[in-house]
Amino acid sequence: MSSPALLVLYGSQTGTAQDTAHRLVRQAQRRRLKVRLMSLDSYDVAQLISETLVVFVCSTTGEGDPPDNMKNFWRFLFKKSLPAGSLSRLDGAVLGLGDSSYPKFNFVAKKLHKRLLQLGVSMLLPVGLADDQHELGPDAVVDPWLSAFWEAVSVLNPSLADVVPLSEDEPLPPSFSFHFLDEKLGTDDRLKVPSVQTLPSQSCPFPARMLSNRRVTEPTHFQDVRLIEFDISGSSIEFAAGDVVLIRPCNAAEDVQRFCQLLGLDPDSRFVLRATEPSAVPARLPQPCSVRRLLRQHLDIAAVPRRSFFELLATLASNELERDKLVEFSSAGGQDELHAYCHRPRRTALEVLADFPHTAAGIKVDYLLDLFPEIQPRSFSIASSLKAHPHRLQILVAVVHYKTKLHKPRRGLCSTWLASLDPQQGEVCVPLWVKKGTLRFPTDADTPVLLVGPGTGVAPFRSVLQERLSEGRTANFLFFGCRSESKDFFFCSEWADMMKARHLLLFTAFSRDQEEKVYVQHRVEENAALVWDLITRRNARVYIAGNAKQMPAGVLSALKVVFQQEGGVSAAEAEQMLAALERAGRLQRETWS
Ligand code: 2AM
Repeated sequence: MSSPALLVLYGSQTGTAQDTAHRLVRQAQRRRLKVRLMSLDSYDVAQLISETLVVFVCSTTGEGDPPDNMKNFWRFLFKKSLPAGSLSRLDGAVLGLGDSSYPKFNFVAKKLHKRLLQLGVSMLLPVGLADDQHELGPDAVVDPWLSAFWEAVSVLNPSLADVVPLSEDEPLPPSFSFHFLDEKLGTDDRLKVPSVQTLPSQSCPFPARMLSNRRVTEPTHFQDVRLIEFDISGSSIEFAAGDVVLIRPCNAAEDVQRFCQLLGLDPDSRFVLRATEPSAVPARLPQPCSVRRLLRQHLDIAAVPRRSFFELLATLASNELERDKLVEFSSAGGQDELHAYCHRPRRTALEVLADFPHTAAGIKVDYLLDLFPEIQPRSFSIASSLKAHPHRLQILVAVVHYKTKLHKPRRGLCSTWLASLDPQQGEVCVPLWVKKGTLRFPTDADTPVLLVGPGTGVAPFRSVLQERLSEGRTANFLFFGCRSESKDFFFCSEWADMMKARHLLLFTAFSRDQEEKVYVQHRVEENAALVWDLITRRNARVYIAGNAKQMPAGVLSALKVVFQQEGGVSAAEAEQMLAALERAGRLQRETWS
């Protein structure tokens, strides 16, 4: 019997599922299996019928939604016209990547597994449910799941037992080859500008001119929050309140320089890239391309590297001491140590390379795209409305910085990069595109909105309030929380104007302006009669946006208290009321971590 041809399909939003899919491909290559790798939406699903073995690696985003690059597949798969049993010749498996701090943990993987069973696929093993919240990261589930998968494949194909696998310390051939050009000058750093007819997208973003970048927190406040405005005139971008803008950040120039030093690369050299199966040259990369552009805009050298990075690096290392350490970090037994070295202190890939200088200096350039994933776009809730600011798009960005045991403070790549851009110093263009968000606001004139958005969670609510005010809708209730009235109460004058015009009722919770912490949920409880009246009598919709950690749960329990107190219902009934509101789309949340 010939060995099966494996197809690995992934749906990935932040790159974790894609990286995991890559790992699976490498494991297949070591077993000398024929393997193909594709994102779900770039695969022609009608072909599934002629496959033999397929693994789906997919994450769950937001409130239980599939990632953007599997949305078409998702719609197709749940078509009623697909007959049960139509994929009965297929063997399959589903590996899910999720985060249990969000509602609907790994919802997409679970639903996909169920649907594939319905369609007759023989599922080789139970769905894998990896959890970002696990203290050892998603690999705590992924590793045993992958072993179980290979076990099942070998039971299915006893002939695989005769295959001598490629040894773990032999490097796999690189997925790409670099062909350097003699001349260095070129115009590859220009952005492709989409024509007015095409909607800017991930593969063709719109270079929006930054108009202003203003700090909205008091200068001495610990948190730097920016209101950034872009000019989107000349693009066909349109958006409504609740929509999201995506921005792919650039690496810092000094990081690119350091990287080139460590690897002995000339940033000005230019190359043409060729891919070997099953890889494809990323569409976003110009050909020819400079090393600087590849590093500045494409390869994620500032992220905490995944285990697969260490696995590959270990096979490329020639210095014995460094190799031993890398082998340990990539082994199953070395995961605690890897966690302590890399994940807990949030050490970046670039910093790891600096710790392994001999290995770094010996990396063949052909391996760069295997070692480093693509920089992922970051999404921001749009904070303005086209009705109030035509041709403009504004976002509210909290500049991420925190300390770990490492000497250098950790910084968020995108927010730090955005904050560093200064339109006063010359023209700055940021490539961006927009997509529909999860929040849906009422379209009829009378429905009141009850908005709960502490901190930067208020961004989509500023957008909807601007929109609603431009349409003369006045039943607007906002609960806003921040640390201090004098330090981070951003947009206070805008709210004051809306209140003066009697278009807004604002409730504030300044958590640190007094001894006791006061949060938005306390204000919700304090205004129980109003909240109850709005929800039960005036059919209001409730929206919660902000940090996913504790806040949404706090607000939900405050709502339950309101229902019990004002409606005289039991705790269980209050819970059911919340669930009913959520099912009816009258309670919506958009949370992030
Ligand atoms: P704190 O930092 O003083 O704890 C915006 O970040 C606001 O949200 C801050 O005032 C912050 O308060 C507050 N916040 C922190 N945890 C919260 C929670 N669990 N529920 C509601 N608000 C919270």
